[in-house]
Amino acid sequence: MFTERTEVKTDLTNVFHWNYDVMYPQMDRLYENAKRDQWNVSTTINWDRPIEREVIDMSMIPMFQTDLYKSLSQDRKDQLMRKFAAWRLSQFLHGEQGALMVCGQLVEAAPDLDAKMCAAAQVMDEARHVEAFRKYITKLDKIYPIDPTLDRLLCAVIEHDRWEPKYVGMQIVAEGLAIAAFRFMQRETKDELLKEMLEYIMKDESRHVGFGMLALREAVRKLGGQDKKDLEEFAFSACDMMVTKIVDGKPKDGFLSGTSVFEEVGISMRDVEDEMQRNPDWAKAEAEMDKQFNSFLFVDTIIPCLRQLGLINERTEPWYTQLGVMQLASAA
Ligand SMILES: [Fe+2]
Ligand SMILES: [Fe+2]
Repeated sequence: MFTERTEVKTDLTNVFHWNYDVMYPQMDRLYENAKRDQWNVSTTINWDRPIEREVIDMSMIPMFQTDLYKSLSQDRKDQLMRKFAAWRLSQFLHGEQGALMVCGQLVEAAPDLDAKMCAAAQVMDEARHVEAFRKYITKLDKIYPIDPTLDRLLCAVIEHDRWEPKYVGMQIVAEGLAIAAFRFMQRETKDELLKEMLEYIMKDESRHVGFGMLALREAVRKLGGQDKKDLEEFAFSACDMMVTKIVDGKPKDGFLSGTSVFEEVGISMRDVEDEMQRNPDWAKAEAEMDKQFNSFLFVDTIIPCLRQLGLINERTEPWYTQLGVMQLASAA
């Protein structure tokens, strides 16, 4: 069932800042770069190109090596591939809308002007990303509803009444997720239009992580006692949500709603699960792919940022180790 609208209540304190001196020159530079690097979705990218048939390289996804998949007609294979890509891109789209809203909140709640200006520039970037994904997905197939895990993450960030957890949740964890997912998809796709679009978006996103780190370094240093502990816990719970665990034989957390596309093209999930069970190698390959993605996401992107900010420390490191996100995929 597709809901048109969700309302989230928040108790955010808005802050005016009356000192107009540049207090953080590095942030001012990021704001300058943001203005310099503006691009226009409708004119920078040539939308007249058709989307390649192989929008995702299916050979990299273990499920698509199974006999079940091989037995499908070419037409259904193509349909499945398009829908699978549309589902994934839809999650990017919803994430971008979340980023747009959180950045709007940061303009209001950030305690200094340099951060407000950077956040304002990011609002425009995120609006552009929403525009780009919406345009691409509608050209490809259709927009899918938000995955429950992503919904939970975005709501937790939006409804928080403090600005520091918003920065951590959005600028470090969600942006980290975005960058890792974009990089992964860019590697997989054979479609030049998508590759180009993701390239432009990723350039904006890496600026956003830089901005988050600058704003947070100072802020986290100033936090003491329980507030610091709360922020550490918030950062961990945001990471924890994204990792799928098996509880009582059933998967929990992570991004699981993508399986709906199989049913949509007339393949029952039961058959897919049976097939995977018959072929433990594919199940293993699937788990390996998840590990690779988590390695991209956590080891390369999120963990180094959280460590630099002092949010991974003696108290919290064991939580991440237990979650299994501290080592590289190849070493895991
Ligand atoms: Fe974005
Ligand atoms: Fe962003």
